[in-house]
Amino acid sequence: MTHGPETLPALAALACPNCGQALDQAGRRLSCPAGHSFDLAKQGYAPLLAPGSNATTGDTADQVAAREDFLGSGVYDPLMAAVANASLTDAPGVIVEPGCGTGHYLAAALAADASREGIGLDTSKYALRRCARRLTGDDEPRRAAGTRWRLAAVLADAWRTLPIRDDAAAAVLNVFAPRNADEIARILHPGGVLVVLTPRQDHLRELVDALDLLSVDPAKPQRTADQLGSMFEAERTDELHYPIGLGRTEILKLVGMGPSARHLDPAALAAAVAALPDKVEVTVAATVTRWRGKGS
Ligand SMILES: C[S@@+](CC[C@H](N)C(=O)[O-])C[C@H]1O[C@@H](n2cnc3c(N)ncnc32)[C@H](O)[C@@H]1O
Ligand SMILES: [Zn+2]
Repeated sequence: MTHGPETLPALAALACPNCGQALDQAGRRLSCPAGHSFDLAKQGYAPLLAPGSNATTGDTADQVAAREDFLGSGVYDPLMAAVANASLTDAPGVIVEPGCGTGHYLAAALAADASREGIGLDTSKYALRRCARRLTGDDEPRRAAGTRWRLAAVLADAWRTLPIRDDAAAAVLNVFAPRNADEIARILHPGGVLVVLTPRQDHLRELVDALDLLSVDPAKPQRTADQLGSMFEAERTDELHYPIGLGRTEILKLVGMGPSARHLDPAALAAAVAALPDKVEVTVAATVTRWRGKGS
């Protein structure tokens, strides 16, 4: 098959969500040899939900808009750079991010390795619209030339069988998102890497205290290690710890994109943010760990 501008990037790595076989593309329709077919959404993402998926878990339009603005401001660029750096590998395959959101981290990883294509999976259609449009570093000239981009956005539930072929991923990114270790192990190439970003307990500490946000569970790093430790070996860990200065608008976006957005009363939050100083110094604290499959 020739790859025209309309061909979905990373197509060879995708699998039918019903039977797991390879997908082919004709126009805007993807189909497998068993005759299951899926039409690309007009916003550009591929709807590949497995039977029984829970597609209601995704971020809302407001959360996604807040995430797009906040991540676009650049204050998390060091986190993206660390994830991108840890995802570099010689293994063959694509870069996959379950729970990719707006695709900022995936795009950073693709920008760091111009030879790769990527697949972002999410249950939020609002996030996938952004992800499907996201340029990946060197894509601006591609867009001008009308050639294809390097990133496929896919509607899929991270807790179900992923619509990805066995061993197809050179790298899997897991950034503030659901983590299905069995499925990650299945899709990861034996030489591939799993890159996990987890917030540390003092992440956004100043705002957690001032605004009564959900805090990071102190047992989380241990839980992550326990969950992954039977299948993967930690190869490298980067600790990131730096201050950012945020005004009230940025703080509202940061809160709006996170898990607390669903728990807080908007009026109480607005009042608490109004009472903050004009500029608040906030701690960013996260760990980026690179894991490899045991025995690889
Ligand atoms: C906190 S956001 C992180 C997004 C992105 N990784 C980032 O850091 O910018 C979590 C993402 O997981 C998605 N999500 C939630 N449940 C999901 C599921 N079951 N399967 C796939 N994505 C899911 C949400 O829609 C959201 O985009
Ligand atoms: Zn099928």
